[in-house]
Amino acid sequence: MNGSLDGRTVVLGVSGSIASYKAADIASRLVQTGARVEVALTRAAAEFITPLTFRALTGRSPYVDIFRDGAEGEAHVELARRAELLLVAPASASTLARLAHGLADDALSLTALATAAPVLVAPAMDSQMWEHAATQANRALLAERGVQFLGPVSGRLASGRTGAGRMLEPAAIVDLVRARLGREHGDLAGRVIVVSAGGTREAIDPVRFVGNHSSGKMGYAIAEAARDRGASVVLISSAALAVPGGVRLVAVESARDMLAAVQAECAQADALIMAAAVADYRPAEVAARKIKRAGFDARSVDLVQNPDIVATVQGDFVKVAFAAETDDLLANARKKLVAKGAHLMVANDVTATDAGFGVDTNRVTILDTDGGVDELPLLSKYEVGQRLLDRVVSLLGARG
Ligand code: C5P
Repeated sequence: MNGSLDGRTVVLGVSGSIASYKAADIASRLVQTGARVEVALTRAAAEFITPLTFRALTGRSPYVDIFRDGAEGEAHVELARRAELLLVAPASASTLARLAHGLADDALSLTALATAAPVLVAPAMDSQMWEHAATQANRALLAERGVQFLGPVSGRLASGRTGAGRMLEPAAIVDLVRARLGREHGDLAGRVIVVSAGGTREAIDPVRFVGNHSSGKMGYAIAEAARDRGASVVLISSAALAVPGGVRLVAVESARDMLAAVQAECAQADALIMAAAVADYRPAEVAARKIKRAGFDARSVDLVQNPDIVATVQGDFVKVAFAAETDDLLANARKKLVAKGAHLMVANDVTATDAGFGVDTNRVTILDTDGGVDELPLLSKYEVGQRLLDRVVSLLGARG
């Protein structure tokens, strides 16, 4: 994981539901992302999962019974003040009702009532309870007051039925917490960042394509880092990776699809980061039907040049390109920086086994238009994304 929530205080409110056990996974993920996690359990939640589990995961004693000793009520108000975000996951129907009506009769609802921090809720209940007019009225009331709903989604429910009311998966919930804390505190809040990722696929016929080894991991890591800093992120991708929560995906296949998507999305962008490995050439003609093996032997595939997306797209945004090279890394990257009209060029040597294609780490050098050469050590791709975004933030700041 990474330290995107370093030093942030997140209060996790857990209510009683068959999904309560998933709150342990959420607590663990939040801790691994660097957050200081404090847990408030309802009594019903403590029937499903023990406070001990949370104490072991977070290193702090959860709050359960407000009446255990005289000072407890005060302690909850303190907890509510310390919270930078309150996440209620799972949020049962009765917890939603308590929050909607301002009750403060347990550790969770008391904290929710006393905090000024953003409140995010991830409902989990049977579909009949979720769809009930009472729950829907509570949902509307809470949403109107600014409570952010994460799900629920449709899927298999504990009752065996399929329907609305299933809690969003822990990884997706934590992604949305990161996005929200980014919007509250991040230096890219209010900015639109467009990131391209993956190797484009240039069709030969309906089943075959010309492609490359790009996994898309670098672009996805940049998208996550930009989201964590509060940006609205558009990820234009031809890769088959899981889409990070809180990021908008525009799925594309070919270089020409990607060009159209980049042009459309860059109309509102503050920065374009072209991490995609765009195919330089595509088959001149795409066969309408699958080419038979017998006919293929004697055939050659004529190629024509694709548009250079980053060089083509124009506008008032920061442009970042990548140079994946096997030799003369810096000299080639510098030439491309100029030729493509980029503000920053990220040079990476794709012959290294611990960096570049397919792996989770990268070793890059960032070149700028003032002749600056910033050689970074081997880092996770997420951390490379963060360092790159530091540069983007300062370029955006210089523009005002
Ligand atoms: O020229 P080269 O392919 O090495 O340049 C790499 C950089 O240019 C990357 O940022 C890539 O996304 C971008 N590129 C592009 N359109 C192309 C080829 C590359 O935008 N047709």
